[in-house]
Amino acid sequence: MLKGFGRAPFGSRPSLTPTPAEALPAPHADSAPPMPSPPPPPAAPRARDVPKEPDPAEEAYETLKRHIHMRLVDRLDMNRVSEMDPNTLRSEIRGVVEHLCDTENPLLNRNERQRLVNEILDETFGFGPLELLLKDDKIADIMINGPKKIFVEKEGRIQRSEVVFRDNDHLLQIIDRIVSRVGRRVDETSPMVDARLPNGSRFNAIIPPLALDGAVVTIRMFGSRPIGKDDLLRFKAFTPEMLALMEGAMKARLNIVISGGTGSGKTTLLNTLSSFIQPDHRVITIEDAAELQLQQDHVVRLETRPANIEGRGAVTATDLVKNALRMRPDRIIIGECRGAETLDMIQAMNTGHEGSMTTVHANTPRDALSRLETMISMAGLELPIRALRAQFASAIDLIIQASRLQGGPRKVTSISEVVGMEGDTIIMQEIFAFRQLGVDANGRAYGEFIATGIRPTFMDRLEYAGYQLTPDVFRQRVLLKD
Ligand SMILES: Nc1ncnc2c1ncn2[C@@H]1O[C@H](COP(=O)(O)OP(=O)(O)OP(=O)(O)O)[C@@H](O)[C@H]1O
Ligand SMILES: [Mg+2]
Repeated sequence: MLKGFGRAPFGSRPSLTPTPAEALPAPHADSAPPMPSPPPPPAAPRARDVPKEPDPAEEAYETLKRHIHMRLVDRLDMNRVSEMDPNTLRSEIRGVVEHLCDTENPLLNRNERQRLVNEILDETFGFGPLELLLKDDKIADIMINGPKKIFVEKEGRIQRSEVVFRDNDHLLQIIDRIVSRVGRRVDETSPMVDARLPNGSRFNAIIPPLALDGAVVTIRMFGSRPIGKDDLLRFKAFTPEMLALMEGAMKARLNIVISGGTGSGKTTLLNTLSSFIQPDHRVITIEDAAELQLQQDHVVRLETRPANIEGRGAVTATDLVKNALRMRPDRIIIGECRGAETLDMIQAMNTGHEGSMTTVHANTPRDALSRLETMISMAGLELPIRALRAQFASAIDLIIQASRLQGGPRKVTSISEVVGMEGDTIIMQEIFAFRQLGVDANGRAYGEFIATGIRPTFMDRLEYAGYQLTPDVFRQRVLLKD
């Protein structure tokens, strides 16, 4: 059998995706030259995978596709393939497939022929049926619940996609291809895996036996162009007044926590706000699966590592925060606080690394503080609660709340200042807020952004940093209705 072919079990195949994105950093990616994938073997039919009413035309098409794929592999000269540049290889293979289409089934019409050629190229070089969804800029999330049930979030709404995989093996094959590019693996002994797609999207897979109905994949798409502050203003995610305050807070190096539910836009907001960081500041980012896209030159990106198959070699966010402190950071950004690293981050914020940021899963600013507290106590770090809160109160300056509202709009629903302590309680004051007033006929939430009338106490810090905000910005009023 040819090297790299055959249906190897998970984990050991060479990198198979010579897309233009191959040039993107993939730290552990195999450097083996790209090779086409094997023809998909005819799958044993499984009761739950078989569509209720098989379409004979579609079946004939699939059979033809498989046949041409097999003929393609027969024809390739593997020695040449491994030496060729990926783009030349792709165009040569396109030629061969087009020729095969004409000789094997000259009756295909132009559209069918084009579809067939593209699908074979996607199977061979890319991520198979996923390619179609990955190319769609309007999709925010792809959720694959087994081979035949694929849902996407498109323009705020979750809908079922037409795209399907042939069967569970086909889906597993694509998952394997994605994770092996970044030096990770997925199999029965490690059935959960995080990875990054070449376009920067976040990828998570969990396979049987943990997932009961076939492999489950969740992809968080970050469109080809990152969402910027002007896009967010246009989407009415916040108002210019709120942006002005957030910009000032970034420039004056306030410590910021972005709080929000799942998929509420926390990471997007962090990315956007990072554009206000001074270009000469050395920023160190720490993430579980890198997805931040900071625009500065002086950025050091660190990523945690799960344990290997023997349970060794794990590098946690706590380890990375500790190491980052020895790397002369001006600011530390932790993609998301989930556990013990919270304490290290709070201490870093309190010891001269002002301007640090993180995100946390929580539904209100107050909830964010108690989540952080819980993470520290769950990590077994026993600190008197009052001492802990005092640390929070002096470390954190601003909490920005992101929310995904009913019907899909994502908004900054609160910007609150952490003022200090009173007894055992951390005192906060809300400066801007979004108040939901109802839900329209399309099921979409609507409401208004308001300025509460409170002027933040950190205005002097903004001024020292050379950032002026007129008091009028904070005058109590409705800022914008949406
Ligand atoms: N204001 C917005 N309007 C429209 N789309 C947005 C907005 N903010 C973020 N998005 C899109 O919504 C999706 C979720 O955003 P993001 O990843 O920032 O959320 P998150 O809160 O970090 O999610 P998670 O909890 O999974 O980490 C992304 O595809 C992003 O491009
Ligand atoms: Mg996120």
